[in-house]
Amino acid sequence: MNNSEENIVEKFGLEKINYDLLSRIDSSDILIKRKLLTYVRGSKELEEAINTKNFYVLTGVMPSFEKIHFGTFGVIKAVKFFQKSAKFSIVLVADVEAYLTRNIPYEKAKEIAYNIHIPTYLSLGLSEKTIFYFQSENKSLIKIATDVAKNITLNNFREVYGDISPERIYSSTFQIADILFPQLIRKIYPIIPVGIDQDPHLRLCRDYVRKTNSFDFLLPIGIYIKTIPSLSGEEKMSKSKPEDAIFLPEEENVLRKKIFSAFSGGGITIEEHRKKGANLDIDVCYRILEFVDESDKFYEMSEKYRKGEILSGEFKEYTFYVLQNFMREFREKLEYYRDFVKKGNIIEIHSIEELKEFIE
Ligand code: TRP
Repeated sequence: MNNSEENIVEKFGLEKINYDLLSRIDSSDILIKRKLLTYVRGSKELEEAINTKNFYVLTGVMPSFEKIHFGTFGVIKAVKFFQKSAKFSIVLVADVEAYLTRNIPYEKAKEIAYNIHIPTYLSLGLSEKTIFYFQSENKSLIKIATDVAKNITLNNFREVYGDISPERIYSSTFQIADILFPQLIRKIYPIIPVGIDQDPHLRLCRDYVRKTNSFDFLLPIGIYIKTIPSLSGEEKMSKSKPEDAIFLPEEENVLRKKIFSAFSGGGITIEEHRKKGANLDIDVCYRILEFVDESDKFYEMSEKYRKGEILSGEFKEYTFYVLQNFMREFREKLEYYRDFVKKGNIIEIHSIEELKEFIE
């Protein structure tokens, strides 16, 4: 099964993001100004959700690795964006999925999530009111996951995922329950920012909502974000190739090396570059800065680079300077939020009853 972006867009009909609509939440957010969101699954529902302000934002993270890289940055920014008008927001730790598909023991998942994932998400700007839970501990998921199994056929799974296995089927019933369970309280739209590779889950979830007679849920909305390519310029940044990713945080000397090895959209020779300028679309540094550098200098530098007025090396020097400052600030916040988590200051729930207490 080919889950590449082009394939999904073409074959399964995704729609382009309507920026006028999203501007109503906050037109000054860089995701909006720079058009960093790409597609939506459920544009009708998105419109309805924003018009009625009746939505929550929810995403999940798999605690399968001790480090987070820049590839995850866009999803966190998107959660932060929708958080501005959502009734509440949830980031769940997919420990059931991590156990089944990556063999991570539950205790290990917890340790990694408390030490890395949750503090990182908060450090990158998510509200301290964000609600967290672990899949294995949220007992309200079971009712929905069970009903998913009753309504979805093996062929439905096959159509969506191609290769199926008991592990994947079980994980995806949980993922559907994650997306929908807040609606056990009342009908409210789920807005789900994720990588486009998660679209099969959204499709299956929407099929399930249409089929089930046990619950009356509103359809979930998938929001897909522009990817950050790997350092070699291919596809997207991923943890499976650590030398090809920038981690959060990253040591300064490693950061420098990685930035200077990153694929550049500049001309091959200086003459060519001065004449034709850089192709920013394929320039890894540009694609990172686009998400990270909110200063006006970003526009000035990338314009000069695009026109060939500055060379790739100068643009990389600037990227290093921006990311170095970013990492310093990030490290401080990470320390603060690790402590915040240790002191038990995050909101963590274990059931729908507990969720009720935190929403108006
Ligand atoms: N499958 C997602 C991943 O691999 C994690 C996840 C689990 C998730 N449940 C979710 C994402 C619900 C969004 C919504 O990263």
